[in-house]
Amino acid sequence: MGYRDTYDRWKADPEAYWLEQAEAIDWDIAPTRALFDRGDHIYEWFADASVNTCYNAVDRHVEQGNGSRVAIIYDSPITGNKSTLTYSELQAHVASLAGALVAQGVEKGDRVVIYMPMVPEAVEAMLACARIGAIHSVVFGGFASSELAVRIDDCKPKAIIAASCGVEPSRVVDYKPLLDGAIEQATHKPDTCIILQRGQKPCELNPERDIDWYAAQDGVRPAPCVPVEGNHPAYILYTSGTTGAPKGVVRPTAGHLVALNWTMKNIYNVEPGEVFWAASDVGWVVGHSYICYAPLIAGNTTVVFEGKPVGTPDAGTFWRVIEEHGVASFFTAPTAIRAVKREDPDGEEIKKYDLSSLRALYLAGERADPDTVEWAQEKLGKPVYDHWWQTETGYTIVGNPAGLEALPVKVGSPTVPMPGYDVQILDERGDPLPAGELGAIAIKLPLPPGTLPGLWNAEDRFRKSYLTTFPGYYETGDAGRIDEDGYVWIMARTDDVINVAGHRLSTGAMEEVLAGHPDVAECAVVGVSDELKGQMPVGFLCLTKGVDRPHEEIVAECVTRMREQIGPVAAFKKAVVVDRLPKTRSGKILRATMVKIADGEDFKTPATIDDPAILDEIRTTLRGIGYPQG
Ligand code: COA
Ligand code: AMP
Repeated sequence: MGYRDTYDRWKADPEAYWLEQAEAIDWDIAPTRALFDRGDHIYEWFADASVNTCYNAVDRHVEQGNGSRVAIIYDSPITGNKSTLTYSELQAHVASLAGALVAQGVEKGDRVVIYMPMVPEAVEAMLACARIGAIHSVVFGGFASSELAVRIDDCKPKAIIAASCGVEPSRVVDYKPLLDGAIEQATHKPDTCIILQRGQKPCELNPERDIDWYAAQDGVRPAPCVPVEGNHPAYILYTSGTTGAPKGVVRPTAGHLVALNWTMKNIYNVEPGEVFWAASDVGWVVGHSYICYAPLIAGNTTVVFEGKPVGTPDAGTFWRVIEEHGVASFFTAPTAIRAVKREDPDGEEIKKYDLSSLRALYLAGERADPDTVEWAQEKLGKPVYDHWWQTETGYTIVGNPAGLEALPVKVGSPTVPMPGYDVQILDERGDPLPAGELGAIAIKLPLPPGTLPGLWNAEDRFRKSYLTTFPGYYETGDAGRIDEDGYVWIMARTDDVINVAGHRLSTGAMEEVLAGHPDVAECAVVGVSDELKGQMPVGFLCLTKGVDRPHEEIVAECVTRMREQIGPVAAFKKAVVVDRLPKTRSGKILRATMVKIADGEDFKTPATIDDPAILDEIRTTLRGIGYPQG
């Protein structure tokens, strides 16, 4: 059955479709129904089932006789380490760590924050939580203490699992002081921190609270898998919204299992036992779904890669890993390919490796620009599939279902909606627009299994963020169009979220940091186009009256503040001082117009602008810092 038939079959009877997909999961109590309508546009899937995620990702493969199959390949060009873990070894490690959590008093439903670099122990920590029904919340290592503190206060973890350090090309990042700082800042305090000491830089442990990773497991009983309800949260993952406070996306257990399992064959076109690699980080949704859960649920081998696309040691790293480990399906962000292309435009590194195992390259996380897609297609000689999704959904909304039927690629479009997603383009009033017209991208409710049923402890915010603008639909926050062939084209965000090197960041959060500088009276942060990272944040600062200090000093302080308060991942390096910000007569800052000026695009001066002359001042100031680029 091809794509169209499958999509139509889903649409004709979504419940029957998903119950059939659910048969691939090992249930403690199988679901009797698929969809549970909780009223007022809140839905849950497989809520009456009982199941364990870790059992499905690990134990069942061992029980089925595949214990000697490699589950995890760790390849760390940044530290020079490589190792493998079979499914049996993974089971033993995870059961032991889960036992340590139990010994520390962690129970089903308790939250556990994980703050770790790209080491296999990060995946073990996630699975250990899933094993006992604890709800993990992984925080990306590039975030600063205050971001970690906000997440600790929101999800109130009983325990934190962390490593002593991460390793970046330019430096060893001490995680422990960042963790200690976050706990100090947070109102909520965890009972225990389990710390993995890394050889690159061990840390001091606080005897009152910290326990070494191995000491914690010493003498404990390995923990069995605890079955949980189908709607039990598997994890919380914080992502950027319009305001400074991140949104805690909740992932429901049963739907997550069913949907992710479905994607491995139908989208990524891999069979159990084959090697799948997502070069992302466990701190992002791609890392949750495609470094940890989906490949393991489907019985694949997953690659934990601790390195960068370039510089560790060169632009051939990706291709070396693919050859060495026989990767069949590879997933990364367009930024990573742009970085490789910039360093190796003629693809000389690609020629050095045997990429015959590789079937296709998958791109997501940000817009895949045609230049990058075409370069990769040509140099690799393999299909390149863009696909569009979000932290909220956890897997593809629009993609090319290569394992079902590889559809012709239209470069610039992530292809077509996956079964489960009724994607529509709406006008401002919420009415569907005809083919080809640009509007807000919305998904008719209910969303499919595995997508967010809500935000952690924030039902109002969930409704306001996603369900209110277009009643009966989920608002994606992206704008785009659907062409006459049903291909979806993603054009831009409709909110203040920007995408820097495939990392989702909030300009609102950055503005809060700048506004906290004593000399800044008013500010704006916009995402301007960047040749490498897709977008980069640029700050505009209006100073408090009477402040008479060199502007460079204030800008440098703002850059430091951003690094300290959000983290290096924000890549906030550029800010300018301006007299005024362009605004409408009602006082709304014209951010979109500022972006167009920075990008050198044509635009119409908004009719509601208070003082059009400001736009020339903004243009001149931006030229001074190199925008538009090129
Ligand atoms: N822990 C601590 N710091 C981290 C970090 C981590 N896990 N990840 C990144 N950082 C730091 C970096 O060291 C850098 O700090 P610096 O300003 O001191 O140099 C900063 O955060 C920005 O990092 P990064 O986004 O990696 O930019 P870069 O300029 O170092 O590298 C690329 C550019 C393109 C190579 C890199 O962005 C990349 O690999 N992108 C792919 C993105 C991706 O896979 N996204 C996943 C979503 S699918
Ligand atoms: P995240 O939640 O971090 O995965 O970011 C999701 C957002 O990234 C989406 O809402 C889009 O704005 C953007 N995005 C992700 N994938 C794509 C893609 N393939 N094409 C265009 N934008 C994308």
